[in-house]
Amino acid sequence: MEEMQWPMPMDNLEGTRCNLRLLAPRDIPDMIQACSDPLTQRFTTIPHIYTEEMAQEFVAAERAWAIVDEDDVYCGHIELRLESLDNRTVNVGYLAAPWARGKGLTTDALKVVMAHAFRHGAHRFEVRCAVDNKASRAVARNAGATEEGILRGAEYLGGEFHDIVLHARLRPTE
Ligand SMILES: CC(C)(COP(=O)(O)OP(=O)(O)OC[C@H]1O[C@@H](n2cnc3c(N)ncnc32)[C@H](O)[C@@H]1OP(=O)(O)O)[C@@H](O)C(=O)NCCC(=O)NCCS
Repeated sequence: MEEMQWPMPMDNLEGTRCNLRLLAPRDIPDMIQACSDPLTQRFTTIPHIYTEEMAQEFVAAERAWAIVDEDDVYCGHIELRLESLDNRTVNVGYLAAPWARGKGLTTDALKVVMAHAFRHGAHRFEVRCAVDNKASRAVARNAGATEEGILRGAEYLGGEFHDIVLHARLRPTE
């Protein structure tokens, strides 16, 4: 049986509206602003006070792609995470900088990361969003993931437990 490669290579990836490259130290001031934004705080587990040291550590871990525009300006970031190696399942975390929202960049980035994961052996790609996170649910849906159900009170985000919509997309050929 084919195996899933993990960790997956952090190649530069090209979308139709954005490009993806490793986060870099020059992104840190924009990352701090994006991570401190109220909507990000409401729907992610990013610490309330997001420090320069936290950003440096995250960049150094080389686990996430920066979502960048045609001028290589940071517009957000996206992280592929392992759910289960045995089940060849991954999941994802993403955010868009407030100044870059509503332009289809995250949807494009998610499609690109899905294709990358499937090329490297993923069978199932999960996206979890709070029920009231309408924008994130639209991103998951528009990237081809299907809503599978609600995980009640499954994530503690922004100081409260949220019901979570589980979405997933299976590798297209399967
Ligand atoms: C979720 C998030 C990443 C979306 O980023 P984005 O780059 O603006 O996303 P896109 O432009 O690709 O798509 C946004 C979609 O949400 C829709 N949308 C935005 N706000 C909405 C709202 N309040 N109600 C319903 N739909 C909404 C847009 O219309 C668009 O859908 P469409 O293309 O079908 O019209 C961004 O809002 C964000 O950073 N939120 C805070 C962090 C977060 O929630 N991360 C995800 C955790 S699961």
